[in-house]
Amino acid sequence: MMGKPVIEIRNLSKIFRRDSFEVVALENANLTVEAGEFLCLMGPSGSGKTTLLNIIAGIDRPTSGELRVLGEDVARLDEDRLAAWRNAHIGFVFQTFNLIPVLTAYENVELPLLLTRLSAAERQKHVLAALELVGLADRIRHYPRQLSGGQEQRVAIARAIVSDPTLLVADEPTGDLDAHSAEEILDILSRLNREFKKTIVMVTHDPRAAHYATVTRHLEKGQLLPLEPESRQVAER
Ligand SMILES: Nc1ncnc2c1ncn2[C@@H]1O[C@H](COP(=O)(O)OP(=O)(O)O)[C@@H](O)[C@H]1O
Ligand SMILES: [Mg+2]
Repeated sequence: MMGKPVIEIRNLSKIFRRDSFEVVALENANLTVEAGEFLCLMGPSGSGKTTLLNIIAGIDRPTSGELRVLGEDVARLDEDRLAAWRNAHIGFVFQTFNLIPVLTAYENVELPLLLTRLSAAERQKHVLAALELVGLADRIRHYPRQLSGGQEQRVAIARAIVSDPTLLVADEPTGDLDAHSAEEILDILSRLNREFKKTIVMVTHDPRAAHYATVTRHLEKGQLLPLEPESRQVAER
């Protein structure tokens, strides 16, 4: 795996067309993310951050350009293969948590594993380990409405990592949280990066987030600005 980037993007563009109206959401973006990096994508609202993240994660497809994620030419996979690829390799964390309200924390985290061949006993081992890692071992029977926003997001992170994906993508994971909960979430993501060697791509407005990332890139009006040498840093503890 040495020297093989997790994400390689060349001249990537995304144009949304509605009737005769066009929005250039992303224009000729170039990006390389190496294994073990924690990339922070910043930029104003509407600059194309979510579009880029969704294309990387195989949720959306580019209009033109080249894209390889974990060695796979994801834009060319058909829907079934794409879904299988996402389940196997990508963990998602969203701003609004997206937990299922009628399921407990445990059941929410178990959900991705129901698509695998793991036995019930193996699933339980993984679910408890993931909830333990985010500090919620004592909340497994709670429903989302019985949890704080920060706790809900920690359940969402447990769900994202329970199948041990190589790449984690997070779209404004602290956007709906108070400052204290936001820092807890950033700490967990940073730990997943440093201790568990997860490659992470995180979209954020949060200026504190850049301190946790190993590299920060800025988007402006669909343009991914060139990497500034000083923006690749040793992550702060
Ligand atoms: N599904 C869509 N249809 C049409 N336009 C879209 C769609 N998704 C995003 N856009 C447009 O693309 C641009 C970038 O959007 P987005 O990637 O969501 O920005 P950000 O996440 O940085 O706020 C915006 O102008 C937005 O309105
Ligand atoms: Mg967005």
